[in-house]
Amino acid sequence: MATFIKLFVTLSIISLLACSTNAQLINNFYATTCPSLQTIVRNTMISAIKTEARIGASILRLFFHDCFVNGCDGSILLDDTATFTGEKSAGPNINSARGFEVIDTIKTNVEASCNATVSCADILALAARDGIFLLGGPTWMVPLGRRDARTASQSAANSQIPGPSSDLATLTTMFRNKGLTLNDLTVLSGAHTIGQTECQFFRNRIYNETNIDTNFATLRKSNCPSSGGDTNLAPLDSVTPTTFDNNYYNDLIANKGLLHSDQALFNGVGSQVSLVRTYSRNTVAFKRDFAAAMIKLSRISPLTGTNGEIRKNCRLVN
Ligand code: HEM
Ligand SMILES: *[C@@H]1O[C@H](CO)[C@@H](O)[C@H](O)[C@H]1NC(C)=O
Ligand SMILES: *[C@@H]1O[C@H](CO)[C@@H](O)[C@H](O)[C@H]1NC(C)=O
Repeated sequence: MATFIKLFVTLSIISLLACSTNAQLINNFYATTCPSLQTIVRNTMISAIKTEARIGASILRLFFHDCFVNGCDGSILLDDTATFTGEKSAGPNINSARGFEVIDTIKTNVEASCNATVSCADILALAARDGIFLLGGPTWMVPLGRRDARTASQSAANSQIPGPSSDLATLTTMFRNKGLTLNDLTVLSGAHTIGQTECQFFRNRIYNETNIDTNFATLRKSNCPSSGGDTNLAPLDSVTPTTFDNNYYNDLIANKGLLHSDQALFNGVGSQVSLVRTYSRNTVAFKRDFAAAMIKLSRISPLTGTNGEIRKNCRLVN
């Protein structure tokens, strides 16, 4: 009888654990179920970046936009269909979110070795980490065990992802709503040390704002007319847009932040001003703090345990 009760208690605990909604992400989640995962993601990212260095930046941005909308749950990867409106067509993503084909390729390669085991949300987290590393940035262990959403929210994507004309108060509030501090905002904005932006997002800044270096504004106007050319590209980092270094912060100090939201970090008072100065002087500190903040970003509201699903195709709910 005692054995029977013990068995019953043990089974109950096991099922509680399995159904637990707040299971923790862990670094070695796939150690036995998909030991080749990290190698597969790394190798696919190496060849993608060889083809186009910018793709590392684009995938990092996808990850940020995934995590800011109902957590890091792969929701941004879902395609719109006749009966489903997802996040790809939301304002912050439409005609600018890119890198989906690389995530598809990684998923295909992962499925070939570990069928129906690894979530698209985890693949995106690993790919973002690898892109940063391959462009010269830091590396870290990615906590894993996220599962994929069966839903997406276009309205949350429209209202919860900050826009390029946001001021510091708005940025601070939007990050705080995700459990991220002003320090996290300051260091994560350093992601703009890589990648490109469209003219339509910085036009007002280069034509109308005064806290901008004059020569820099003139240079950017050469490929961003006061009307037209909306999708013409310019680098977010004025010197090294395919190297994950600390030059973004040098740009801010020189009034060469390209987006209004970038320069907002170095315009006025607050602890972020001295942090910008610190990162401009100290690459090691920037990379260390960036890695820690990425882990924090990656832990926003994941689906775990038996919630969500492991998608077969990152673009479609099973
Ligand atoms: C702080 C608020 C932020 C705002 C307002 C913002 C806004 C933007 C905008 C408007 C673009 C250009 C998109 C385009 O023209 O297609 C961009 C690009 C980018 N953003 Fe942000 N961003 C923010 C924070 C972040 C964070 C936290 C990350 C990652 C941790 C990030 C990573 C990137 C990257 C890597 C690119 C370049 C993408 C590419 O070249 O395809 N951003 N961002
Ligand atoms: C993958 O696993 C699913 C069940 O989880 C099975 O139906 C499918 O045939 C498998 N595919 C491959 C290629 O092994
Ligand atoms: C400059 O600001 C004015 C007033 O807000 C606006 O109408 C105009 O479109 C802006 N110019 C550019 C090039 O964005």
